[in-house]
Amino acid sequence: MGLHNKIMKRTEINHILDQPTIGQEVNIKGWVRTFRNDQFISVNDGSTIRNLQIVISAENTQEEDRKRLHTGACISVNGIVQESLGKGQSVEVIGHSLEILGECDPNEFPIQMKKHSLEFLREKAHLRFRTSTFSAVFRIRHHLAFAVHQFFNERGFYYLHTPIITGSDAEGAGEMFQVTTLDLNNVPKNEEGHIDHGQDFFGKATNLTVSGQLEAELAALALGKVYTFGPTFRAENSNTSRHLAEFWMIEPEVAFNDIFDNMDLAEAFLKHCLKYVLDHAQEDLLFLQDREQQEDKTKPTEERQIMPLIDRLKFVVDNPFERITYTEAIDILLNSNHYKKKKFKYDVSWGIDLQSEHERYLVEKHFQKPVIITGYPAAIKAFYMRLNEDGKTVAAMDMLVPGIGEIIGGSQREERYDVLKEKCAQFNIPEEHVWWYLETRKFGTCPHAGFGLGFERMVMYATGMGNIRDVVPFPRTPLNAEF
Ligand code: 4AD
Ligand code: MG
Repeated sequence: MGLHNKIMKRTEINHILDQPTIGQEVNIKGWVRTFRNDQFISVNDGSTIRNLQIVISAENTQEEDRKRLHTGACISVNGIVQESLGKGQSVEVIGHSLEILGECDPNEFPIQMKKHSLEFLREKAHLRFRTSTFSAVFRIRHHLAFAVHQFFNERGFYYLHTPIITGSDAEGAGEMFQVTTLDLNNVPKNEEGHIDHGQDFFGKATNLTVSGQLEAELAALALGKVYTFGPTFRAENSNTSRHLAEFWMIEPEVAFNDIFDNMDLAEAFLKHCLKYVLDHAQEDLLFLQDREQQEDKTKPTEERQIMPLIDRLKFVVDNPFERITYTEAIDILLNSNHYKKKKFKYDVSWGIDLQSEHERYLVEKHFQKPVIITGYPAAIKAFYMRLNEDGKTVAAMDMLVPGIGEIIGGSQREERYDVLKEKCAQFNIPEEHVWWYLETRKFGTCPHAGFGLGFERMVMYATGMGNIRDVVPFPRTPLNAEF
């Protein structure tokens, strides 16, 4: 039998497996995972990590079609839902008509049922969605995105869309991608020999945003509670497992919040998102947990996870985070055996920017749970952070989690006009670049605070994936912008 003789509405596999109606006629569409014994098709349609078993026979299908049933082929099958006699599934579908929608040549298709390395699959990012691992990761990514909006919506925040093209450098780190329509082969120059951005599209130099914070602050000073959730771009040349050149950030900003309110919000936010995944993605988590445990067997004991994935997430959801000051963090590091045995590559003293080895020691060895560090030296943090009474530290906060390091960075903002102007001068930020930001401090300023959470780092944490390139569909990293 070739084409279906009857047009039927498609039923998704999760419905068939979760609420089966024995004897019902259904149409299934999906991709073949395996085809065994000229009889059993295991098919997946993305609605769940579970595959559906479809049984076909020589009587109701053509041999020529069965020969085209290779891993990766896309099929449409009409059949009857039945209780399954085989192990591993409660129901199966007895197919009575099969149509091959898209063939898949087994000699060319790179994704086979054997286990592929994540590195190999990164080269095949257009097809890696077809694996159980990546379909689980991207379903969880979806659930987390939904949980983000749910959290803020339930608390009366407004979702704000801040610009992607901007003239400002919020973080002052200078790691920006320039946006221009000037002819790069014939760049107009001014009298001083500098690029004449006056002739550029916007009449000034612009770049892709590194953060929506400064604009979010403007809105918070009227709307009260806002958050952004959008792409951000950083041209930092760091080829690590935790950095992307294009990543998504969530940035809440709240009028009248101080640094303590900010910490409470950040902790509640991360807990909410992880709890949502525990409640809505159990099967995917179980799969990833199992995968991680298999991987761990190949690693030395000290690199293995202490707790399985689901327990780890529950632990974070159920326990208060540690809160310490930067000064306390430095003391812990200085008093550690690790430091005394000279095991840190970078030296430790008050004033240093904590390196990731220091952060990992604090969260993974010392506290073994998420830690929020506040009160960093003013000199190593951004210009907008509120200066503390001591005149040398700022009301900054970083949240660090085991296995990832920094997941959130934020602060109470400098709301005092004079202090902020002084900070701009110290950081060499021309006032004409941030005049609009400064004006909000002149017109009805108020204490306020906010933070940024790196979405991909949260997805890494929730899925246990060890490389940030494996939690975003098409990673953008130095020398890599394929797909
Ligand atoms: O600490 P960051 O640089 O803070 C800001 O951008 C502030 N404007 C946020 C705010 O207060 N509204 O970045 C915030 C978070 C980091 O903690 C990290 O999780 C993530 O963004 N992040 C990155 N994620 C992936 N790749 C990169 N290159 C990242 N850089 C930062
Ligand atoms: Mg930071």
